[in-house]
Amino acid sequence: MWKDTLHLKAPGNWINDPNGFIYYRGMYHLFYQYFPYAPRWGTMHWGHAVSRDLVHWAHQRVALYPSKDYDQNGIFSGSALEREGKLYLYYSAVRYLGQNGEDIHVPLDDSYVTSQAMVISDDGRSFDNLGAKRQIIPVLDDEAIGDPKDTRDPKVWEHDGHYYMILGSTFRKQQGKALFFRSRDGLSWEYANQYTSPEFRDMLECPDLFRLGGQYVLLGSPMGVTEAGIEYAHHAMWGLAEFDHRTCALALKGPLTFMDYGLDFYAPQSTVDRDGRRVLVGWMRMPQAAEDPGDGRGPWNGMMSLPRVVELREGRLYFTPHPNVEALFRPAALPWDQAVRRRPFRLKATLHPGEALDVCGYRLGLEGSRLVTDRSQVFPHLSGYRTAARTPVLDGEGCRLDVFVDDHLIEVFVDGGRYVVSHVVYGLQDRLSGPVEELFTLREES
Ligand code: FRU
Repeated sequence: MWKDTLHLKAPGNWINDPNGFIYYRGMYHLFYQYFPYAPRWGTMHWGHAVSRDLVHWAHQRVALYPSKDYDQNGIFSGSALEREGKLYLYYSAVRYLGQNGEDIHVPLDDSYVTSQAMVISDDGRSFDNLGAKRQIIPVLDDEAIGDPKDTRDPKVWEHDGHYYMILGSTFRKQQGKALFFRSRDGLSWEYANQYTSPEFRDMLECPDLFRLGGQYVLLGSPMGVTEAGIEYAHHAMWGLAEFDHRTCALALKGPLTFMDYGLDFYAPQSTVDRDGRRVLVGWMRMPQAAEDPGDGRGPWNGMMSLPRVVELREGRLYFTPHPNVEALFRPAALPWDQAVRRRPFRLKATLHPGEALDVCGYRLGLEGSRLVTDRSQVFPHLSGYRTAARTPVLDGEGCRLDVFVDDHLIEVFVDGGRYVVSHVVYGLQDRLSGPVEELFTLREES
């Protein structure tokens, strides 16, 4: 089975959202949306990887696959919970309404229905797709509650002996909303409440709600944030919220903010790490499959971001690389021009107004108090994908950058995690110039 260091990558073919992210029985488990037959989206399975430290991942056998009438066309995104020593996995179960004769892995005329389902695993290793699945929330038949097609991505948590589920939904694909269900045992669920906001745009995907530093934080991926056709229309965002477990009443306290100012980060999911930190990973969307590495993996499309610690400071979220990421690197022993050929590597730099860095063909500059990035030299010429991005206006004279460079991904943590800019890249060049302060490569033993 495939092993990945630092970033989890598709084990060949296609992956998208992280699912069922949990620390369970001494291991991190990360499931993911997986199409096992080609490097494109299709009938979803849950792939599975495990790790002791969030940075060394070992892919496992497919965990969940379509096997029931209600999930025959896809095991969509969802989450994990530990209960009485067992691993409960919750997912959205998709059934197409007509068969697409030319491609059975995508719906005909985009028509399908979605219900919510679960599987209980005794050990997080074996998943009985035939005997242990159950449908827990049937296809919704009341539009006032939620959409029969577009209601998905259950994120489940426990609070004071009860279980809660948030789902993304929409009213007629025009108004995004979040639905809440409640349960005493994690098995039978009742509808509790809903919340809608123009901030959720046309549809809300992959909501995630948790308490952090005395506040509730909502993460979600609204569809239709930016105009379709210019770039991806859907983006991962965060907002501070109020939430009452007794009524499941949610209210955003203000507008949503981008979680990442690059163009590719989407559908993140959070969990609590071994030491109690809130940590998340997101899917890095790739417009083209990466080439077959030649080791049998084959062409692959989709990877996960670094595990990022989420912290609330002065009313806003900061995203920083998990300490286990830091621990993987040490100061480069090689001259820097050689070290940049050994990816992944990490560098630190401070940019002052007008200064720029060229990291393997990816350009970063401080222009008009914003960090401006340009990947045009390391990205295929594809219409519909932007190559330039910029942060909001930064405070202070210079900006501090902590940059992680892997073959297909550059992640830039700006000013101690105040902003993150991540981009998928192709064909990095072996060069480095600009005001670099420190360069790090992987420790030998990694
Ligand atoms: C987000 C998403 C989810 C859905 C899954 C399907 O990328 O559209 O809402 O469950 O992907 O693969």
